[in-house]
Amino acid sequence: MALQLGDIAPDFEAETTEGKIRFHDWLGESWGVLFSHPKDYTPVCTTELGYTAKLKPQFEKRGVKVIGLSVDPLADHYGWSKDIEETQGQAVNFPMIADPDRKVASLYGMIHPNASDTLTVRSVFIIDPQKKIRLTVTYPASTGRNFDEILRVIDSLQLTDRQKLATPVNWRPGDEAIIVPTVKDEEAKKLFPQGFKALKPYLRLVKPSD
Ligand code: BEZ
Repeated sequence: MALQLGDIAPDFEAETTEGKIRFHDWLGESWGVLFSHPKDYTPVCTTELGYTAKLKPQFEKRGVKVIGLSVDPLADHYGWSKDIEETQGQAVNFPMIADPDRKVASLYGMIHPNASDTLTVRSVFIIDPQKKIRLTVTYPASTGRNFDEILRVIDSLQLTDRQKLATPVNWRPGDEAIIVPTVKDEEAKKLFPQGFKALKPYLRLVKPSD
């Protein structure tokens, strides 16, 4: 069965561009983003990896480690990294898993045989410090992902973990959030002394305090 939200992210050992890792040990206490790309030396992936590397300070600020994967061998990852630096103006600054036997790709359901027998789809997994999967995304090979959106989801998840809040459509950090329905008004008054707006009894908006 496909991995689902709330499942523990499967552990594995793998060769990466930064040495051999055991995934859970590598994650440690951090949040993680594990993402696959279909193939080395391909154009869309080149832009994704360069952009994600540029976002490293943003991921670090949120306590998130990023790791990429493709089913190509390490030697290709190293050679391709030079092209990424040259064309995207940014060196890859996170490990890339070499998964030529597709061990990790199979564990995470990253190969969708009716799309391609050999290439991984563009999967993203956000994993929390308890190693639980908190987001899964699957994009087709031809569509580059929006890694700003991945950061936005991490902001939403981390807010939800800190306070009894959910986030509305197109929410951005700093916007009003939604008080979760399990919190009754009396508790909400205590939790959110800054006050909240009740548009409906089930739709209550508050400016988060942090
Ligand atoms: C790409 O990364 O450019 C790509 C990879 C596989 C299929 C199509 C595009």
